[in-house]
Amino acid sequence: MNDASPLEDRWTHEDIIKSFDTDRMFFRPASADLVRSIFSKYIAPSDKILEVGSGLGELTKLIPEYQSRITQIEQSPRVSQVNKRTNPETNLASANVYNLPFPDGSFNVVTGYSVFDTLADLPKALTETRRVLTAKGKFIHFLDMAASVNTLFWTYKNSNYIPFPAHGKEGEAAARLIPRSKLKNLLLSVSEEKRGFYEGYATDPESYYVLSIKNNSMDLLDLLAHDVENFAPDVSSITFNEFFYNNIQAALKQTGFTTIEAEREMGTSFMKPQGIYLKYPNRQLYYNNVGNIEYFNQSSKGHHPLNQIQIVSILHTVVAQKK
Ligand SMILES: C[S@@+](CC[C@H](N)C(=O)[O-])C[C@H]1O[C@@H](n2cnc3c(N)ncnc32)[C@H](O)[C@@H]1O
Repeated sequence: MNDASPLEDRWTHEDIIKSFDTDRMFFRPASADLVRSIFSKYIAPSDKILEVGSGLGELTKLIPEYQSRITQIEQSPRVSQVNKRTNPETNLASANVYNLPFPDGSFNVVTGYSVFDTLADLPKALTETRRVLTAKGKFIHFLDMAASVNTLFWTYKNSNYIPFPAHGKEGEAAARLIPRSKLKNLLLSVSEEKRGFYEGYATDPESYYVLSIKNNSMDLLDLLAHDVENFAPDVSSITFNEFFYNNIQAALKQTGFTTIEAEREMGTSFMKPQGIYLKYPNRQLYYNNVGNIEYFNQSSKGHHPLNQIQIVSILHTVVAQKK
């Protein structure tokens, strides 16, 4: 792999992974429903399963009945430590997806939960994944949060294009790819005070992007997005999600996999309005679309009784088979 990416490194911290909890807690039972149905469709009882980038053990918490059958690997020692402490029965090895410590053909299934979008070198990770899979072995990936910016920023690093922040549809994070050759004109089109920031951004977009998120200065990115839109109205934006979906499919094809399915799939669950759900008495449907949470205040015309809340979780799901 190339130099360590600040974006890739960012996900290896316990606090960052824990910060997803606020979004995830509502949707876990519904996400579990989907994961369970995909696993039972594609995984045989005797199959050996490897989970890459297990973090704090989100996937096995959703489907505890698979825990003893899953070998987990995680590159961050700190995150692994916490996972082991909270899930003592975890079968966890410290390892990197780019260099897996297993012989060829060791697993029937390699899985990951919101992990492959954080990897800087997808083709390399999938080549190594394919190596440890048996003939016709399967790769199953779920994305329950919005795709990380990594894939996009890494793809265009040192290229002729600079990914500038953009407004995606429905507020999804997106980028507009501006040719480097047009940068000078872009800089001339903005005010003097902004120019320094833009110049800095253009030299190291990923670090600037992450720093702006960390400092909660999304308004700066917002401003930038407006200026770039005015400067290049003909350049369309691509959301990080769209980019990741396209990219993982291209990388799977390139590394010798056949994609069986790659789409947003839905899991559902029903809950009595209790605990945290009691705080929102008028809401009867909670809807999560890969990290973009929406709460629908629906009248209960559907098939669920009034005293229950329907939780829907949509995860981007990829299933592929080793050719
Ligand atoms: C976004 S977190 C997701 C963690 C967990 N699957 C979850 O859903 O909460 C990505 C995880 O992948 C791990 N990771 C990142 N790069 C990796 C690599 N090259 N090899 C193995 N694990 C990696 C990170 O340390 C982190 O725990």
